[in-house]
Amino acid sequence: MWILWLAGCGSLRDCEEVDISSVSELPERLSDAFSPEALPYEVRFELWSDGAQKRRWLQLPDGAAVDTSRPGDWDFPVGTRLFKEFARGGEPIETRMIERLDSGWTGVSYRWLPDGSDAVALPEGEEDAAGTGHDVPGASLCVACHGGRASFVLGYSAVQVSPEVDLPGDELDQEALGYLHANCSHCHNPDREVGVAGSRCYDPDSDIDFTLPPQADSVEDLPAIVTADRFLGDEDDSFVLHKVSRRNQSALDPSMPPLGTEQVDEDGVDLLTRWISRR
Ligand code: HEC
Ligand code: HEC
Repeated sequence: MWILWLAGCGSLRDCEEVDISSVSELPERLSDAFSPEALPYEVRFELWSDGAQKRRWLQLPDGAAVDTSRPGDWDFPVGTRLFKEFARGGEPIETRMIERLDSGWTGVSYRWLPDGSDAVALPEGEEDAAGTGHDVPGASLCVACHGGRASFVLGYSAVQVSPEVDLPGDELDQEALGYLHANCSHCHNPDREVGVAGSRCYDPDSDIDFTLPPQADSVEDLPAIVTADRFLGDEDDSFVLHKVSRRNQSALDPSMPPLGTEQVDEDGVDLLTRWISRR
């Protein structure tokens, strides 16, 4: 029997409860959900997950296609499934799946069995899975990040997978802005819907926008520059660097991102430091 309601979030914000009853419409085993014909893909800018190795797949219903007419917000047909596997030391721990049902998107993580024969849906999640330090998020937490975009899909997008997208700026601009896009923009964007069940979870409720739009003419016009300028600062006095170079859940000064990571991304901090000090 599935657990239908779970508490939304931890202590950072008071969150509404998230209805995850649609999770019961998903297969209980990964082997019943995943087809060998699923298309593997890679993203241009990765989300930092404390060094986990990740693989991703897209699985469309027969004959269906992604509607890419709106470059910033691709639309996926009902029946679409996407998968993301998390491994540590070469051993898969969990494979997350999101699916577009008739009623909308839903998602759950499948926890791999110790013998590696299959993975089983784990809607309640698991902290410190098998002593690896890796946390498997419960189904109610998926919306804390995925609910931040109308498309629900965060990484199969024009900026992330389309070779035709021509980003503004030089290599350092693109890497830094891509980093902020992948790690921050699912929460920090103005399109985040307010008041929908679950969407208040980890909703920053601020006007910073870290989105890297697929069509942009110049670096100066990008939302991350326009709206986050006061937080970027300079190398010695940058609120963004202060936020990303520590980990805590303190109510007064929480580190960023506040979810999905417990270790500082040293390479990411180094990248942002180089970019901010050059500005
Ligand atoms: C901390 C934020 C966060 C949480 C919590 C989270 N995700 Fe994601 N997820 C992302 C981001 C960002 C991407 C895209 C970047 C990437 O693939 O590295 C992503 C990608 C994915 C993908 C690949 C398709 C896509 O949207 O790009 C799947 C599948 C997925 N997540 C499933 C889940 C499921 C299921 C849960 C809950 C059990 C979950 N995620 C929880 C942030 C999150
Ligand atoms: C899971 C959602 C989430 C993600 C991802 C996230 N943030 Fe935040 N952010 C928040 C929340 C919630 C707050 C408000 C925290 C508070 O003060 O209560 C916040 C606040 C901030 C603030 C302070 C804004 C202010 O008005 O004081 C900055 C700066 C910031 N975040 C930067 C970042 C950066 C940089 C990243 C990526 C490395 C990031 N955030 C990723 C949810 C998120």
